Amino acid sequence: MEDLHIQNEYTTKLKHYTTHKNDLKNTTNHLKGIAIKNVSFRFGGFQSSSVLNDISFFIPEGKTTAIVGESGSGKTTLMKILLMHYTPTNGMIEYNNPEIKNVSHLNLMDHCGAVMQNGTIFSDTIEKNITVGAKNIDYQMLDKSIYISNIGPFIANLPLSLTTKIGIEHPISGGEKQKILIARAIYKNPKYLFFDEATSALDSNNERIIYDNLQECFKNKTVVVIANRLSTIKSADQIVVLKDGTIAEIGNHQSLLKNKSTYYNLVKHQLDVCN
Ligand SMILES: Nc1ncnc2c1ncn2[C@@H]1O[C@H](COP(=O)(O)OP(=O)(O)OP(=O)(O)O)[C@@H](O)[C@H]1O
Ligand SMILES: [Mg+2]
Repeated sequence: MEDLHIQNEYTTKLKHYTTHKNDLKNTTNHLKGIAIKNVSFRFGGFQSSSVLNDISFFIPEGKTTAIVGESGSGKTTLMKILLMHYTPTNGMIEYNNPEIKNVSHLNLMDHCGAVMQNGTIFSDTIEKNITVGAKNIDYQMLDKSIYISNIGPFIANLPLSLTTKIGIEHPISGGEKQKILIARAIYKNPKYLFFDEATSALDSNNERIIYDNLQECFKNKTVVVIANRLSTIKSADQIVVLKDGTIAEIGNHQSLLKNKSTYYNLVKHQLDVCN
């Protein structure tokens, strides 16, 4: 309820920004979180069509926001804008957090753990793939990240355990890769976590174990998760439903089900399985 109140307050403000565009750049907002203000995006020039169209919503700090929608609706593009991989063609995003000043893609990355659809595995040991760039490895945190990502059984079966090399010369499966990317994000222990279909290559049992483990980590972090499986989405504090690059609905699982609209149609075939 509190989240919906925040969202409503924010939506009212955004209507003001839309009619008084000059206020957009100068505004300082008292609400902590990420403000997405009238964001549009196209990959090509003016002739190309927009992938995102005038998107405005608010991601409250310390809460989990799920982004859902059909394939091609713009979910990954929106997440890459949040991560400043892409600059919006119109509009802006604002990180309302005094610790992130003059935010750019590079300093934002210090505060973010991201598991993207096309995440990279380096040709190096599993340990280095999880603790990327760490000078002194925090072994307690490494153990925790291995446990949460449920990659322990896989590592235990390798002859060199954590020091086994993976990468181009030592291929691993898509699911193992996703587990290592999740472990990497958890090891970093960031303020913001971004997951784009982070468990899509895993069986539903592994997915359930990992998301159950993640709940503890998600506490007090700002989490943005793109997922298809209802079991992953339904516990989110708020769900943003994208359709053809615009926001169709925002709410939580219960309120969106009641709407019987885009979200309901997206998930209805999963409802019997999950309930
Ligand atoms: N690099 C790119 N260049 C041009 N068009 C792109 C590029 N990446 C994505 N698109 C297009 O932008 C639209 C939105 O893509 P996006 O990857 O954001 O969708 P999505 O909702 O994440 O889909 P999925 O569920 O399949 O991952 C699609 O029509 C896609 O073809
Ligand atoms: Mg995508």
